[in-house]
Amino acid sequence: MPGFKGMAVPGPTNLPFRIRQAMDVALEDHRAPDFPQFTLPLFADLKKVFKTDTGRVFLFPGSGTGGWEAAIANTLSPGDKVLGSVFGQFSLLWVDLCQRFGLDVDAIDVEWGKGVPLDQYRARLEADKRHAIKAVLVTQNETATGVTSDVAGVRRILDDLGHPALLFVDGVSSIASIDFRMDEWGVDVAVAGSQKGFMLPTGLAIVCVSEKALEAGKAARLPRCFFDFRDMVKANDQGYFPYTPAATLLRGLRASVDMLLEEGLENVFARHRRLAGAVRAAVDAWGLRNCAKSPEWFSDTVTAIVVPDGFDAGDVIRIAYSRYELSLGAGLNKVAGKVFRIGHLGWLNELMVLQALGGAELAMRDAGIPFQPGAGVGAAVMHLSQTGEAMRIAAE
Ligand SMILES: Cc1ncc(COP(=O)(O)O)c(C=O)c1O
Repeated sequence: MPGFKGMAVPGPTNLPFRIRQAMDVALEDHRAPDFPQFTLPLFADLKKVFKTDTGRVFLFPGSGTGGWEAAIANTLSPGDKVLGSVFGQFSLLWVDLCQRFGLDVDAIDVEWGKGVPLDQYRARLEADKRHAIKAVLVTQNETATGVTSDVAGVRRILDDLGHPALLFVDGVSSIASIDFRMDEWGVDVAVAGSQKGFMLPTGLAIVCVSEKALEAGKAARLPRCFFDFRDMVKANDQGYFPYTPAATLLRGLRASVDMLLEEGLENVFARHRRLAGAVRAAVDAWGLRNCAKSPEWFSDTVTAIVVPDGFDAGDVIRIAYSRYELSLGAGLNKVAGKVFRIGHLGWLNELMVLQALGGAELAMRDAGIPFQPGAGVGAAVMHLSQTGEAMRIAAE
């Protein structure tokens, strides 16, 4: 069918023309004498996105999964105890990666639709008088269920108890879209990928690392090579990389960081919050349920929508794609068939959100799910028009 395809999965996200154009360049010599003039300011500006003065950002060819591995392999030793929690496919996979690395993971099982259980983290850390727990995992935004967790809350617990564990955050579907504060929250390794809030193609693991994590790395004994922070530090300090960097993606990243900083991070976050509010208003108006159990967990980057009993969310996704060329996010693992997801992050505006909601309505109607056609789109229009007015008044 002619016209744009709809992309409403929670990553990869929509690729801005400005970023696409920034990458439309000849391949370049990454050992050229003037390469550092490009890379050093990029490293410096990336620190602003992570809100860090003291940390440093590493750019690995890879994806978010590589970022998880970098966090673990650079800081821990075989058998080290790690505290985590599982409440969706991505928190599950990070725990699985830790286990495959021979770590002793205490993974708290949480109902899918809720997030990091602060009270249980506190209890585990309080009981750990000998500080056997070396790292604590937080999936800031569980993309599978549309649940956002309280990273600052975990930092408060560690501080209250004087517990020295490293704090690792998976920010793959949150960083550069919703609030994240590396220094203020005392995060030791933060993992992001290029294909979500950074609005790039997949291909980079973007990892921000604290001084404390780099120090811990000196004693860490897990094997590491490709993801070795120490090799990166040595080369990056000179503006180079220990191996061939994904230079074309770095050109795109330069444009991405420019766009984020020009819009202003707080405005980026407010835009995501407002667009997410429109999607949530639509879900309510359809009479459907958000997979995230209560507002404290609602994600501003992705909403997982539970279809009524007796219906298969997979049908909605298949119909949306085959009849209307709209990609919706699939339900993964425990929520397969039960939810479809609307990604609302990255390069996105009101009309793109309405396109996704309209497409979801078409597909749900064809799948036989009962709801009042137009109800969700109408509720989203009301939300956007009311909040748009409020934003305009605030700006005047
Ligand atoms: C929260 C989260 N963590 C990690 C990953 C894994 O990242 P990747 O698929 O880029 O390896 C994803 C992917 O969607 C994710 O959403």
